[in-house]
Amino acid sequence: MSFETVESTYEKMHMMLKNIVPEFEIRHKAELVYEIRKLRDERNAVILGHNYMEPALFHFVPDFKGDSFQLSQLAATTEKDPIVFCGVVFMAETAKILSPDKTVLIPSLDAGCSLAASITGEDVRELKKLYPGVPVVTYVNTYADVKAETDICCTSSNAAAVINSLGTDNVIFLPDEYLARNVARDTGRNIIFPVKGPRGLKKENGELEYAMIGWEGKCEVHELFTVEDIENVRKQFPDVVVLAHPECPPDVVEAADFSGSTSAMIHYVEETEAPRYLLLTECSMGDNIVAENPEKDMLRLCSHRCPHMGQITLEQTLDSLRNNQYEVDVPEAIRVRAKRAVDRMLEIK
Ligand code: 13P
Ligand code: SF4
Repeated sequence: MSFETVESTYEKMHMMLKNIVPEFEIRHKAELVYEIRKLRDERNAVILGHNYMEPALFHFVPDFKGDSFQLSQLAATTEKDPIVFCGVVFMAETAKILSPDKTVLIPSLDAGCSLAASITGEDVRELKKLYPGVPVVTYVNTYADVKAETDICCTSSNAAAVINSLGTDNVIFLPDEYLARNVARDTGRNIIFPVKGPRGLKKENGELEYAMIGWEGKCEVHELFTVEDIENVRKQFPDVVVLAHPECPPDVVEAADFSGSTSAMIHYVEETEAPRYLLLTECSMGDNIVAENPEKDMLRLCSHRCPHMGQITLEQTLDSLRNNQYEVDVPEAIRVRAKRAVDRMLEIK
């Protein structure tokens, strides 16, 4: 797509967004999108955008869009510099881990993640002492110091494949309790959680047999969806197809018709013909699907929003390119160890 003028940018945005974004806002955002793309080209930058970005940003700014796994792959292969990451800090950190010689920018340093904040490198060292020799798999929703203590990373799209690739009976899987419970069920494992006591972590009683050792981190958005939500919607719309991200509680995932990464959910909706869909994930994804597929009827529960993804706006993306802010850095000793774990994940087909 090429945007030669503010007016042609506006026209393209109007075509796609007219039914979901008010006219005056499209006009305002078209000016920002035009400036961002002009500056991106002048600076030879590449912009990566996670599926949770708001519709105007999502559809008209990133060179590449996708889920955490797809964006990690792109960050590993892009030739451009700087990389502007429209997502959250752990994603930008992963880009820096993979492309240390490039400048990696995130438009807001407030774009955190409750899962990434739930665990530290020190916690992982303690767990490894408690379960010596058991391999550690960590979800990419973690910071670099945690990845550095890890044998291999995973995302929601490849967690079971990563665990199966290890060929071991037991595995430490961090930090999302619900993703762990969902993957333990899919890989036929028992799940146990070490107990936090006054003197640190203690083993849960019982044998370690074909087990997944988890951590009690939660996504502050997906943990809020309930089976009752699904039942209420099914009562009103019996023909609804329900999609739940695997960070949702296991009973919610079981009550849904499909569970997968953010890109897998988008793909599922685009490839199926249902009268309507309910998305149990960050609400902006429903807007993004409707913008591109106006014939799709999407229900979404928008009272649960990700406050971190919402930090990334068009204004801040423009400031990021203008002022080279905010640069993401990872200390070299940590980066090298974290890269091993991310590279191993990227090698899994
Ligand atoms: P995906 O890997 O499915 O894009 O998920 C990332 C995330 O943060 C979900 O909340
Ligand atoms: Fe983190 Fe949840 Fe937000 Fe994803 S939706 S970035 S897991 S807090």
